[in-house]
Amino acid sequence: MSGRPLLIIILAAGKGTRMKSDRPKVLHEVAGRSLLGHVIASAGAAGADKIAVVVGPGMDDVRAEAIRWFPGAEVHVQPGQMGTGDAVLAARETIARASGDVIVLFGDTPLITPETIAAASNGLAAAGIAVVGFQASDPTGYGRLLQDASGQVIAIREHKDASEAERQVKLCNTGVMGFRSETMLEILGRIGNNNAKGEYYLTDAVEIGRSMGVAAAAVTGREDEMLGINDRSQLAEAERMFQVRARTCAMAEGATLVAPETVHFSFDTRLGRDVVIEPYVVFGPGVTIEDGVTVRAFSHLTGTDRKVKAGTVVREGAEIGPYARLRPGAEIGRGAHIGNFVEVKNVAVGAGAKANHLSYLGDGSVGAGANIGAGTIFCNYDGFRKHKTEIGAGAFIGSNSSLVAPVKIGEGAYIGSGSVVTKDVSENALALERSKQAEIPGWAAKFRALMQKRS
Ligand code: UD1
Ligand code: MG
Repeated sequence: MSGRPLLIIILAAGKGTRMKSDRPKVLHEVAGRSLLGHVIASAGAAGADKIAVVVGPGMDDVRAEAIRWFPGAEVHVQPGQMGTGDAVLAARETIARASGDVIVLFGDTPLITPETIAAASNGLAAAGIAVVGFQASDPTGYGRLLQDASGQVIAIREHKDASEAERQVKLCNTGVMGFRSETMLEILGRIGNNNAKGEYYLTDAVEIGRSMGVAAAAVTGREDEMLGINDRSQLAEAERMFQVRARTCAMAEGATLVAPETVHFSFDTRLGRDVVIEPYVVFGPGVTIEDGVTVRAFSHLTGTDRKVKAGTVVREGAEIGPYARLRPGAEIGRGAHIGNFVEVKNVAVGAGAKANHLSYLGDGSVGAGANIGAGTIFCNYDGFRKHKTEIGAGAFIGSNSSLVAPVKIGEGAYIGSGSVVTKDVSENALALERSKQAEIPGWAAKFRALMQKRS
């Protein structure tokens, strides 16, 4: 990092017509976080002191999203979409107050890394402008970086305005540009719109700067960070690329992914060491997995949903799945087992407790070492409100029991199979709620004989 104050401006005024969506483009998600959220997070990680986001008129939800990821973010409205140069000038007031480096990013490039942003800032150590370029496999559509013999950028030529010779240049503009704040507004003020698109191009800043004696340095960036999202196919491609990164990172940190290409992470999934993730596991946001946990195949874990942002944690050595579902507020204790077709929501499960088959545990707690039999249901909802089920340590809940909340099962108590428990149960007691079994000796043989005679 340069040590100079860093202002980052993120352009997000585009409507994203090609998404065919009611939502602004930058609010679409990759790995459970909006495109804008990803860009802001990278800007923050690169050391931004201030972030300004440029939005279109009426984009109040984009404003809210910006503030969610960077509470002090300043939001500016660009009244009409007249080009990237015009968009940056929507943040004129913020730029005028800045001293140091100003980096411009696009809100629809979610894969940009803090390292690339920092590189742009470093490029400003010896130049008034820094342009992050990349060697494009297919340069069509991108602005080309034209350099002099010393490597200084003398102009950026937009594809539509480029000559045949200029179109042969493979070094393209990523869109990430840096400016020294002292000269930035003067340069931007001179940008015109006399070009193929009739737009104010931010990229013209290079030639204008040069005419004022402000040099532009080229900084090397990576093509795979620059994927801009314009349609749903590109959104899926960004998701794919994000997942590749996340899996590589998880394995580098000491998790075993048996079939990495089938595991789907959230932007914030945290995994400890010696975690084993079997095939086809999906993580939503807000999940922490501690050391030595095994998550078996086809499990779905999330710590937040639209309404609840409680977080979900699986403590050391626990086993989840196969086919388990952990929802917000699931806290699975050390060495506990949550088995197939078990759903856990807003329940703290104590160390070593087991719920191995076909159960719903919603709202409450399960004490350490308790055993929850197959088919146990926490009846937590009365159609209006949610109620708690509290199970003491070491309790044994017989299979197919319904625990009608609010209800407490004391430590060490037994619940007979098939019981519908509506009252609290004392410690170490047996609670049984079912009618007595009746038996009629020889009934079956007589019945069979009768039926055979009739047929
Ligand atoms: C831009 C660059 C080009 C570069 C390419 C990389 C310019 C003139 N060209 O072209 O050199 O190779 O990105 O992808 O900068 N936006 C606004 N308001 C506007 C116009 C754009 O907020 O009035 C935002 C868009 O929402 C988008 C970003 O700026 O996030 C870039 O705009 P876009 O139209 O995609 O620029 P390109 O033509 O791709
Ligand atoms: Mg673009």
